[in-house]
Amino acid sequence: MKKITQIALLAGAALASSTALASADKLIFYCSAQEEWCQVMANGFQDATGIEVNMTRKSSGETFAQVKAESSNPKGDVWWGGTGDPHLQAAEEDLTEPYVTPMRGELNDWAISQAESASDKTIGIYSGALGYGYNTDLLKANNLPEPSCWKDLTKPEYKGHVQMANPNSSGTAYTTLATMVQLFGEDEGFQFMKDLHKNINQYTKSGSAPIKAAGRGENTIGIVFMHDAVSQAVSGFPIQVVAPCEGTGYEIGSMSIIKGARNLEEAKKFYDWALTAEAQSLALGVKAFQVPSNKGAETSPSAPDLSSIKLIDYDFKKYGSSDERKRLLKKWDDEVSTLPQ
Ligand code: G6P
Repeated sequence: MKKITQIALLAGAALASSTALASADKLIFYCSAQEEWCQVMANGFQDATGIEVNMTRKSSGETFAQVKAESSNPKGDVWWGGTGDPHLQAAEEDLTEPYVTPMRGELNDWAISQAESASDKTIGIYSGALGYGYNTDLLKANNLPEPSCWKDLTKPEYKGHVQMANPNSSGTAYTTLATMVQLFGEDEGFQFMKDLHKNINQYTKSGSAPIKAAGRGENTIGIVFMHDAVSQAVSGFPIQVVAPCEGTGYEIGSMSIIKGARNLEEAKKFYDWALTAEAQSLALGVKAFQVPSNKGAETSPSAPDLSSIKLIDYDFKKYGSSDERKRLLKKWDDEVSTLPQ
């Protein structure tokens, strides 16, 4: 009897320590930036800390939906990357955890403003301007003029030549929708989306897919963040990057700790590490040309120079609010996506 109790105790202790070890040494990492960058961040953190990282890449809107669906039994620990709007919505809906990082002093003001507008439940990790890119070979082969403005993309000659992501799944595409509403006003902005719809050949799930397709010669024009178009051009594909003449919106790519994270200490370690200049400089190795939030991180001369682009004063508070994001997406679903092409 005594022996059995001893064995049971030993087994219990072994189980307890293995559970402690398992939970102390891993991080469930939800990533919404480009796949290659997600991979590099997962490996970089694992190498720097020995903490095992389990990474899943999904687009910004999809990750938001997943975090929300899992909120009664959270599975993820940290959500890194993707446009800031759904991170702000998650903060408002109390799906994420406040955390004040000691790294704040090294960050640009826009990264801190993002944190302040969400009671420290999120923070800016990079920024980038919206625009589009086109395949110069395909444009010539189809005898199409070079577009330079947003409104050019609604001209009938581009029918079937434009691709963008679906704003429900993709933060890039939601930024596009919110940008048009801010740039042209709501009625004209929606009219633009309707006119554009006639020229769209496909709404993809992920934001950068349209320009990757253009790089491969499977699509002519892709509405994406300009840095995603630069990445294709730098990789040797015949892509011309456009900063639209009317001006454009931008993103503050963000990071949040998921409320109820099972590996909270690891999530905080990742959060602090991801804000270091060293971690942010890893971006250049995978041709991720966003503007880093750490002032000391390396930047590339190939990266779009945001100070030379006509940027709107994007209202992150409004367009990242739960009501507004839901309202605009529903309106786009009801009034744009259902129209015949
Ligand atoms: C690309 C961009 C990022 C952006 C992300 C959003 O990866 O390089 O800057 O944050 O798209 O992804 P999504 O698929 O949600 O549009």
